[in-house]
Formats: sequence, structure tokens, C-alpha cells
Amino acid sequence: MDPVKVGLLGLGTVGGGTATILKRNAKEIARRAGRGIEIDFIATLDPARASELGVENTRLTKDAFEVVADPDIDIVIELIGGYSPAKELVMAALENGKHVVTANKALIAMHGEEIFAKAQEKGLVVAFEASVAGGIPIIKALREGLAANNVEWLAGIINGTGNFILSEMREKGRDFDDVLAEAQALGYAEADPTFDVEGIDAAHKLSILSSIAFGIPLQFDKTYTEGITKVTQQDVLYAEELGYRIKHLGVARRTEKGIEQRVHPTLIPESRLIANVNGVMNAILVQGDAVGATLYYGAGAGDEATGSAVIADLVDITRSLSTDPQNRVPYLAFQPNELQDTPVISIDQVETAFYVRLSVKDQAGVLAEITSILDAKNISIEAFLQKELNADSGEADIILLTNVVNEGDMNDALAQIDALAVIDGKATRIRVESLS
Ligand code: HSE
Repeated sequence: MDPVKVGLLGLGTVGGGTATILKRNAKEIARRAGRGIEIDFIATLDPARASELGVENTRLTKDAFEVVADPDIDIVIELIGGYSPAKELVMAALENGKHVVTANKALIAMHGEEIFAKAQEKGLVVAFEASVAGGIPIIKALREGLAANNVEWLAGIINGTGNFILSEMREKGRDFDDVLAEAQALGYAEADPTFDVEGIDAAHKLSILSSIAFGIPLQFDKTYTEGITKVTQQDVLYAEELGYRIKHLGVARRTEKGIEQRVHPTLIPESRLIANVNGVMNAILVQGDAVGATLYYGAGAGDEATGSAVIADLVDITRSLSTDPQNRVPYLAFQPNELQDTPVISIDQVETAFYVRLSVKDQAGVLAEITSILDAKNISIEAFLQKELNADSGEADIILLTNVVNEGDMNDALAQIDALAVIDGKATRIRVESLS
């Protein structure tokens, strides 16, 4: 059988990894797919990179629209990233009858429904395994491997750059900007690194996972999103003293009120496996009612790791070229007419425990004032640390761990605490998850 012809849009980190693996493992991949897979046409603004990567016998262009319009191409791989022109290219590829593989989480989270509808109309496949957690086959696991389960919750470290920064801060006391620059040089960070450090990249990925886990529409706009920029070295060390690690976590949980969908820094007991996932590695813990807890761990970014997921999708599409489109695996795991309108709840309705750090003046009665405010909201203190007085400022840090409380109540209590004359600045609060 003739090889499947692929058009590759973008020859950056992931494009390079994909081309390298396809060349190196061509024979094994063909044995699995049932026929060869060849990159026939590449769109790149840097044609010299193709020869650096040893890509031969491939047409090159600087115009990606030429590739998606080319009649010889069966499958388009979109590795340009961002919303536009990625969306226009993917829609044009589908309009022209080409299957699509993409690593673009922003695109799927924002425009997935429209893209899937077009693919459905045309009887084509859009595959996006590489969009979440790099090389970890989490979409396949959720969509297929866990199909028997009612997923109760999932929690994941799904931004490698953020995890790399938090790990280096804890292990080596390195400076935030310095570690971010290294992540950029290694090709882990997004083109706009604020997407990594402000939690937007993780929110894109979480909204995809949440839809697949619970059979609800993609709702990136309803994801509560908080990044790691406010996490200080001090918080990392205090958390450690209390037996916790701070991780940037994406959490999606089914509750009676609706679906929690949130990304934010989180204290996790250090005894949990996921608390020990360091560097650029990602991990996702999924709790299903039948299987219990399952944990998926691996490289969340990088050239060949993400290329591995891109090629797994290519192999899936190649195998399915002769399958009736109606009988393929549904994009969001559930049949399109079976998606539910279970609401994604606001962060005020979420219930978690909290780590609270306060800078307090050295005066009698300070603790009593704080505890009476917490008490009025039924918030109890599970652990407490008081650090010694700083002689220069005349203030001391106190750190509290609370029981599981309603976030709205916690916000009300913290607003009152922040207003106390004995408190300097605002309280720092980080959510705590036991993940048990
Ligand atoms: N910027 C992303 C990360 C790349 O650091 O995880 C992989 O999606």
C-alpha cells in the first residue's frame, strides 16, 4: 500500500521532534500503522532547519496555506500553536478533506467544538493527544482505557514550565526569572511565557481533560485560573516544614453542585507520589469509581516526548482510514448528542482546605482577633506555625492550615483579617488538597 502523505505545519521544537522520530522509527511505525507514513510537505519560516534535521525528499514552503490546499496530502499536522492562523489552517485542511493532528491546546480549548463539528460534517478525524501533558497518553487513557468508569475527579501537574520553576525554587532556591529563562531556552515554555506562569496553558489543558472526563462541553472560559507568580520562596519552605509541597495543580471534580474546574498553586502532602513529580515532568491522577486511583506520569513538554504523542495520533488515523466515520472514538469521549449541561461551578462554591500566611505585628491579642474571625465562619485551624519576630520590621509570619471550608466563607474571613490593624499587607492563601 502507498504510504500516507503528511503535511507538517511548523518545524519548531515539536515539529523537529516529530520529523526526527518519523525518520528514525519509520519501519516500526509502519509495522504498527499497516503502511508507511511520510512527511511530504513542510511549512516553515526557516527552511535551513529541515536540512539540519536531516529531512530529505520533502517539499518546503513558507506558506502554510499551500500545504493545507495540496491535493497529495492526506493528514495535516498543525504545530504552529496559538489561536490564529492555526484555526484558519485547521478549518481549511478539513474543508479540503484532510485529517488533522494538532498539539494545540489553546486551539482545542477555545474552538474545539467548531472544529469537531466541521470534521464530523466531512467524515474526518481531528486528533489532539499531544495537546495535553506532552508525551503522556492521557486523552487515550480517559477516552478509551477508563471508558467503564464514572470519573469522580482528576488532578494534574499539566504545565511543565511551572513545575520546573517550582521544583528549582524548592530544591536549589533559584530565582524565578532565571529558571523561566532556562525553560524558554529548553523549548518548554510557550511563545508567550505568561501562558505558563499565569496558569492559562494549564487551564486550556484542564478544560480539555474535564470535558473528556465528564462528558461536558469545552468551557475554558469557566475555568478558575491562578498562576504561580505569587508563590514565594518562603511559602515553598513553610509548606515543606508542614509536610507539604506546593504544586501548580489542575483539578476537575464532579460534585453535587456541578463540576469544579480550577487551576492554582496547591499544597499537597509530601507523601503523595504526585507531590514528588519534579522538573518538567507532568502527572495526572484520575479517580474512577471502578478502577480507583490511577496515575499517569511522563514528560509534559519537549521535542520527541510531544512528537511521540503526535505520531501516536498519526498511527491511529492511518489505521482508521478505512473505518466508518460514525464509529470512530468520539472527540470528547461521549457521543456528541450525549454531552451534559452539568454546570461548571464558580470558585466561591468550591470547598478545600487552605494554607494561610500572615505577617503580624508583635502585639498582645493578635491571635485572638484572627481566630475569632475564623471561628465566626466555622473555619478551624488544623496546624499552626509561628516564626520568630523579625527585629527590623517588628513583625512575625504566622502560618495556618485550615479544615475544608467553603471558598466564599474563606474569602469573607480573609477580607476581615486583611483589614485588621495588626496585619501587615494581605494574607497569602494557597489551597490544600489531600488527594486521598
Ligand atoms: N508550555 C507547555 C508546558 C508546553 O510547559 O507544559 C507543553 O504543553
